[in-house]
Amino acid sequence: MPDNDDLTDGERFQTQVAARAHVNQLKGAGALDWGMQSRLARIFNPGTNRTVMLAIDHGYFQGPTTGLERVDLSIVPLLGYPDALMTTRGMVRSTIPATSGVPIVLRASGGPSVLKDLSNEQIAVAMEDAVRLNAAAVAVQVFIGGENETQSVHNMTRLVDEGQRAGIPVLGVTAVGRELVRDARYLRLAVRICAELGAHMVKTYYCAEDFDTVTSGCPVPVVMAGGKKLPELDALTMAYNAIEAGASGVDMGRNIFQSDQPVAMIRAVRAVVHDSAKPEQAYEEFVQPAQHGSS
Ligand code: R5P
Repeated sequence: MPDNDDLTDGERFQTQVAARAHVNQLKGAGALDWGMQSRLARIFNPGTNRTVMLAIDHGYFQGPTTGLERVDLSIVPLLGYPDALMTTRGMVRSTIPATSGVPIVLRASGGPSVLKDLSNEQIAVAMEDAVRLNAAAVAVQVFIGGENETQSVHNMTRLVDEGQRAGIPVLGVTAVGRELVRDARYLRLAVRICAELGAHMVKTYYCAEDFDTVTSGCPVPVVMAGGKKLPELDALTMAYNAIEAGASGVDMGRNIFQSDQPVAMIRAVRAVVHDSAKPEQAYEEFVQPAQHGSS
C-alpha cells in the first residue's frame, strides 16, 4: 500500500504556496501545445530564446554545393556546435549520426531544381516521416510575389495543419526571387503572411534598413538567413545587427561551412547570438586565432 505508513499531514503540500506557473518567453509560443513548445525549446535555447541553426539543405535544389560535397567530412564534425541542423531526410538517414543528438529542422518542400522555376515546389515529406525521424520542426519555402505564390503558401498551410496534429512546429522560409527587392517593405509582407497563416517561426533575409520593423511586425520568432559567403567579420556583423534588431537567431549555411575555419566561425556566431558579443570581439576571440593556427 503506497504511503500509508508515511503520512506527512500536509507538511509537504505547502498549501500556502501558490502553484508555480512557468511562462514560455519564446515569442508567440506561450499558447502552443506542450509537444510543440518542447520541440521549439530544442531549437531555441531556453536560456536566451535564441538559436544558431546550421543550414545544409542546399542540395535539395542545387545538388552538391561547395562545402557540402562530403557532408560526412565537412558537417558531421561540426554537429556539437549548432542548436539545430536544417537538412533533408536523405542526408539525415544517410549521413547524420542519430547519436549526435542534434535537433533536426527537416526540409519538407521541394521539387524544382535550379534549372527550373524554384517557386514551383510541393510538399516533399509526409508529417508521419518527420515524426519517425524525431524532427524538431519542418521547413517549407514560401515564395511571396513569386510565380507560384499561392501554391507555396498552400504547401505551408497544409504542413501547419499536419504539424498541429503531430505537435511539430513549422519554419516558414521566405524565398526572395531575383526579380524582387529584399527591403523591409517586402520582408515585412513575407514574414507576416507566414506567421498569420500559422508558421511557428519564420526565416528571412536581413536588410540594412528597418529590419527591426520586420521582426516587430512578426508575432513569432524571426530567424535571419545567412545568404552567400561574406568575409567572416561582415557575416558576424550582419548577425549582430539582426539580433540587435530583434531577430531570435540565425540560420546560416555558406557563411559557416564555406569558411576556411568553420568551427571558429560557428563558435563566433554563437557568441554573437547567445552572448550578445560584439562582432569584432567574436572575430578576434575565435576567427583570428584560428587563422593563425592556434585554434
Ligand atoms: C534557403 O532558402 C535554403 O534553405 C537554403 O538551402 C539554405 O538555408 C541557405 O543557407 P545560406 O544562405 O545561409 O547558405
